[in-house]
Amino acid sequence: MNILIVGGGGREHAIAAAVAKSPKAEKIYCAPGNAGTAAIAENVPIGVMEFDALADLAVEKKIDLAIIGPDDPLVGGIVDVFEDRGIRTFGPRANAAILEGSKAFSKNLMKKYGIPTAAYENFDDPAKALEYLETAKMPIVLKADGLALGKGVLICNTLEEAKAGINTLMVDKKFGNSGNTVVIEEFMTGREVSVLSFVDGRTVKTMSSAQDHKRAKDNDEGLNTGGMGNFSPSPFYTKEIDDFCQKNIFRPTVDAMAAEGRPFKGVIFFGLMLTDDGPKVLEYNARFGDPEAQVVLCRLENDIIDVMSACIDGKLDETDLKFSDKAAVCVVLASDGYPEHYEKGFEIKGLEAFDGKDDYFCYHAGTKLSDGKVVTNGGRVLGVTALGDNIAEARAKAYEATEWISFANKYMRTDIAKSAVK
Ligand code: AMP
Ligand code: GLY
Repeated sequence: MNILIVGGGGREHAIAAAVAKSPKAEKIYCAPGNAGTAAIAENVPIGVMEFDALADLAVEKKIDLAIIGPDDPLVGGIVDVFEDRGIRTFGPRANAAILEGSKAFSKNLMKKYGIPTAAYENFDDPAKALEYLETAKMPIVLKADGLALGKGVLICNTLEEAKAGINTLMVDKKFGNSGNTVVIEEFMTGREVSVLSFVDGRTVKTMSSAQDHKRAKDNDEGLNTGGMGNFSPSPFYTKEIDDFCQKNIFRPTVDAMAAEGRPFKGVIFFGLMLTDDGPKVLEYNARFGDPEAQVVLCRLENDIIDVMSACIDGKLDETDLKFSDKAAVCVVLASDGYPEHYEKGFEIKGLEAFDGKDDYFCYHAGTKLSDGKVVTNGGRVLGVTALGDNIAEARAKAYEATEWISFANKYMRTDIAKSAVK
């Protein structure tokens, strides 16, 4: 089969690596890809929002399966464009990707179908939002309705901060039209867990759980990022919690989308908080997480092409998902200064140390080839990932492997997965 993967981050490198393991994969294309995907696929320099150019490529290269990685093209309707041109595509259509594309939509869906989540109100008028805040309990959480690179969530400790936040989102429009509507929601406390799942419109099959580290600095200090590292499975996500979530969150969400005439096919990423009142949904994503894909897909034992085909054909009930018993830890090597200002274009050395080592993976995120050398090309540069018999062993191996790599301004957190090692 000819496969096209749309995207160019660590998630797409992890997807490409999983696809490359399938005996069904003949030729893999990645658009735009990075220096890591270049080693297993042919990179094509087309941006993820250039739907017509991508569809032309898929037709020209006789693509049998297109896999869409990032949220922007999914929410923007790339799957509709591809399917209308007869290209078999893994990912939700726009009317289902709205589960991630609009937080107001997802909150209303959860309310309508009784899916546990934080109490909230939606506002499209800043004056009404400010009035509501006057009597609201602090801390409180403000969320831009639309996509904002994971940065449209403000946790406000005081009324003053919350008022300033409304101005940032709704008046100054820091995240553009994403802030036209704002969700104001109750602040919850608890441990966060990510559960990714394959969905075929009717059936949902969950993958192994993971836990992300979103803040830039150790001890969860610093700004929110796309994710600085993570581990899988989460020891805090017990069988009992899973039973509850399957019955009260995962199946109801998929059923709700079908009942609304928006059948979801692809990956739903459930962002959960384990509160004292039980698990609640923090957010939905309509795709694999980055770096969640890295720690989950390296442990998937099924042929990923079979699983994705089952999702497209509505036959996921016939699939038994299998994951290795090993634990995985991913430590992101970033450019110092991320997620704000950072430099790029520095040569990366030491990548060959991963060659031929079974339990070690170096997923490229912000890298590119320049004059035959691999150079830094983004905030998150590499996702150094290792497998071990337990989280402690995987963690020790991942940190060991971070030492093999060098580049100017290399930065990482030193406490990834630390809280899971006890
Ligand atoms: P989201 O993009 O909705 O997942 O939010 C980003 C991050 O903000 C989450 O991973 C949480 O750490 C935090 N967060 C979001 N909503 C809440 C909430 N209601 N209470 C506490 N923290 C939250
Ligand atoms: N790592 C969080 C995300 O992909 O949304």
